[in-house]
Amino acid sequence: MEVVELSPYRGIVFTGMGGSGIVGEITAMFLERRGVDIPTLVVKDYRLPPCVKEGWLVVAVSYSGNTEETLSAVEEAVRRGSTVVSVSSGGKLKNVALQYNLPHVDLPQGFAPRYALGYMLSAVLSLMGMGDISQKMGEHLASYSSVIKEKAKELAQRLKNYLPVVYATPLTGVCAVRYKAQINENAKTLCHTALLPELHHNEIVGLDNYLTRQMCHFLLLYDREDHPRILRRVQITRDILQEMGLVPIELEGEGESFEERLAYLIYLGDWLSYHLAVLYGFDPLPVKSIDRIKGMLS
Ligand code: F6R
Repeated sequence: MEVVELSPYRGIVFTGMGGSGIVGEITAMFLERRGVDIPTLVVKDYRLPPCVKEGWLVVAVSYSGNTEETLSAVEEAVRRGSTVVSVSSGGKLKNVALQYNLPHVDLPQGFAPRYALGYMLSAVLSLMGMGDISQKMGEHLASYSSVIKEKAKELAQRLKNYLPVVYATPLTGVCAVRYKAQINENAKTLCHTALLPELHHNEIVGLDNYLTRQMCHFLLLYDREDHPRILRRVQITRDILQEMGLVPIELEGEGESFEERLAYLIYLGDWLSYHLAVLYGFDPLPVKSIDRIKGMLS
């Protein structure tokens, strides 16, 4: 499909859930960094905010094409006269696109949604005129693949038997979302996240409880391009954790560009969750509880 010309739109909404929803979060951040000056919203719900109407672009991503929240948001967008573009490997979303004659991107079939991140991200970035970024991210990961897998294995050994707590910054917040989801779904384990600077206004006090903090292992994600005051807050967080006798693991992606470093961190988290699953004796693939709930709602 051709690149979507963004200038006529008053705003863009990315809608999708779980492994598909994060595609919108990453894309919205990349658009902002490129200086796109219309609002970019991410909706993970059945309903769209009232401001979304005619003149808005709605990008709906659902790997299966059958996620009811995403389908509902699409129906609402069509009713309100927004322009809708959809991305799926088939399912009802593709049928809705055919029914309303909406542009649709077909993804290869046969993956668990969260394992198709590369396909979905590359499709959506290409639609938004950022195909070059997606290609560079892919090449970067290919060259770092074995380093990342090794590091991930070592991290998983350190995290085993603890509740992983991922603290992240505005530029690495999407990685925290992905780490949590992948640790939940692959390693079948809870994972807590919090973001700077907000965590300095609440979460940090929660660390006072010795009993609960001792159950956690902390990851501190940041990027060198984060705001200088955020980088200072990363140091402060590390110092506070260390004063408590905790050993936070600081993680920054490797790579020249921000997008490469982000891809590195995401891939690291993906493999970390895989190794954690192996250490706990879980098969990373099945997500029985998600399937059960979808079945109960169908
Ligand atoms: C499963 C997974 C889930 C799904 C979510 C939405 O691998 O990652 O988080 O992504 O249940 O389903 P889709 O992606 O098909 O819209």
